[in-house]
Parts: sequence; C-alpha cells; structure tokens
Amino acid sequence: MAHVVTLIPGDGIGPEVTKSVVEILESTGVAFEWERVEAGAAVFDRTGEALSIEVIEACKKNGVALKGPIGTPIAKGFQSVNVRLRKILDLYSNFRPVRSLPGVETHFGPLDFVIVRENTEGLYAGLEHEIVPGVVTSLKVVSERASLRIARWAFEYARRAGRKRITCVHKANIMKMSDGLFLKCFRDVAVNYPDIVADERIVDALCMNLVMNPGQFDVLLLENLYGDIVSDLGAGLVGGLGMVPGANIGDDYAVFEAVHGSAPDIAGKNVANPIALLRSAILMLEHLGESDAARRVDTALAQTLSWTPIRTRDLGGNSTTTEFTAAVCEAIQKGPSLSA
Ligand code: NAI
Repeated sequence: MAHVVTLIPGDGIGPEVTKSVVEILESTGVAFEWERVEAGAAVFDRTGEALSIEVIEACKKNGVALKGPIGTPIAKGFQSVNVRLRKILDLYSNFRPVRSLPGVETHFGPLDFVIVRENTEGLYAGLEHEIVPGVVTSLKVVSERASLRIARWAFEYARRAGRKRITCVHKANIMKMSDGLFLKCFRDVAVNYPDIVADERIVDALCMNLVMNPGQFDVLLLENLYGDIVSDLGAGLVGGLGMVPGANIGDDYAVFEAVHGSAPDIAGKNVANPIALLRSAILMLEHLGESDAARRVDTALAQTLSWTPIRTRDLGGNSTTTEFTAAVCEAIQKGPSLSA
C-alpha cells in the first residue's frame, strides 16, 4: 500500500527542492501518494491566510508531512507558518542530526552530533505585546510539562540510538527562573538514565566550543530559540544550510523539513541544494518503517558526493538541482555496486 504523505512545497526554493526529493524518493520504488497543499507567502497574497485549515487537516489526516521552507516577513506581516504548524500539531521535538558527508569539504574532520530542540515554547513562540508606544515585551514561557517531555524524548532517543552523552544548553546563570526550570527538568529526567552522561553548558560558551572543538558533542538539548540559532551554526560545520535535515515530531504527527529557509536569493534558478530536504526525507522513510529505502538513498547520496564531481554551487560545484537529482536517482537505480 502507498504511503499517503502531505506535501507542502513552501516558498522560495521550496518547490525546487521538494520536486527533487519527490523524484528521488519515487526512484526507490517505495509507493507514495502525495497530498499536495499550499501554505506560505504566495497563498497569503492570494487568500489572506498563510496557513489554512485545509493544510492542518491534511497533516492530521495523513500523520506525516514533507515540507519545504516557508518565508516569514521580517518585523511585520503574518505570524510564522512554521511556528503555528508546530504549535497546532504539538510537534514538540525538533530533531536535527548534524553529520558530515563524504566528499564535502569542511573545516573539521567527520562530525556526527544531534540537536534536539524544544519546539513549542520560549521566546521563539513570538508572544509579543506593545505595552505603550515605544515599549514592547516578549514573553519567554517555559513550562515544566514541556521541559520534562523534551528531556525524556532526548534521553529515549539517545538510548535507542546508542548515544552516550546529552549536553543541556542554557543561560540559567542569567535567566535563573525560565532556563533554570528547563535545566532542573533535564537534571530530574537524567537521574532515570544512568547509562547516559548528563552534561551542561551555557549557550555562549557552547557556541565557542562548537567552532573550536565540535567533535566533543553527542546530543545537544536546547530550548527553542537557542536551538534555532545553534542549528545554523551546526549546519556551518558540515558544509552549510544545504546539508542539514530536520524532523518536527510529536506524539501524533510528524513534519519533515530542512533546517534552511526559503533562500529567496537563489530561488527559481535551479541551483538550490536539495540534500538537506533529502536527508529530512531519509528520516521520514525511517519513520514510515522504510529502513531499507532510507539506507539506499543515504548510500546513493554518499556515492554521488564521493565518486562524482556533481554538487551544487553552495558546495563549490556548478551542477544544477536537476543534474544533482538525476545523479542521485541514477545511483539508486544502480545500487551499491556502482563503482568509481
Ligand atoms: P535561508 O536559510 O533561507 O538562507 C540563508 C543562506 O543560505 C542564503 O544565502 C541561501 O541562499 C543559502 N541556502 C539556504 N538553503 C540553501 C540550499 N538548500 N541550497 C543552497 N543554498 C542555500 O535563511 P534566510 O535568508 O535568513 O531566510 C529566508 C526566509 O526563510 C525567511 O523568510 C525566514 O523566515 C524563512 N525560514 C524558514 C524556515 C522554515 O520554513 N523552516 C527556516 C528558516 C528560515
């Protein structure tokens, strides 16, 4: 039976990278039925609503969505579709593996760590209010419930994946109550997982540690805004935003999307790197129980980068999105026996 998946192409480079990824997924032979729905700036211009009920219902009905990036106007305009979708579907865990790929030059040796980001609260929720003209407050809400469940999620993941250490990232020296609660919940959960080392780091020091010696980290657990910022830093360590995948996971639904945004500077030029969304789709295949197909796509991606000069501009190449897509599809068809 085909997997019915909600497909949200998104804005900017979204339609280009989702098209590429759908083509690659279909070349595996796994049957998909895509329920395509639109959200974002273009829909807002047409209808006045960036995130419609139809999109939310499709995500709920199918349980799984593959999503391109969606732009959010800066300092004005509609509230982020991404933030709303995560809240409405209660996708409380944002899972972002930061792993190097062969054939992609970086400043560091091979890296393999994971960012687990609380996805529903904190300053990133965007709860803002103008008290009087010229004075604005932004609420940082941290709840025990959300902090405990993301900490449990991180430890459960670490145990499943055989990871040894979780570093809770905070600023509880200054935000003693809000980050203090997040940290306390982490410590409370950690006592139930004596097999995993529970480590702590203040967020500014973490950033320095990441650019000087990123290999020391295994799993990073962060509240929403720190997770957002540190994710891009992590992407920079393994080749850029075109490389790092993501999954927004809740108890009932999951939405798979890259870390990067809609990249308006390169949209429509057929030069976007689809790897980040492709790796998000690999996570989706695993979520759907298609582990064999996940492995085949992962291998084909590694082979393409190791054995051919085909790579997009952001990785120093001059291939188009279309050429890259064709190369990965070909590697999938040939299977692991493809040789250099
Ligand atoms: P961005 O991630 O879109 O782009 C930053 C830089 O990275 C640009 O130079 C871009 O060309 C490059 N880049 C990003 N993805 C790439 C890819 N796949 N291949 C090659 N180059 C790539 O970040 P920016 O410019 O700050 O944000 C643009 C819009 O995206 C904003 O409206 C923002 O709100 C939105 N956004 C949406 C996200 C989502 O839907 N999950 C996540 C992050 C940002």
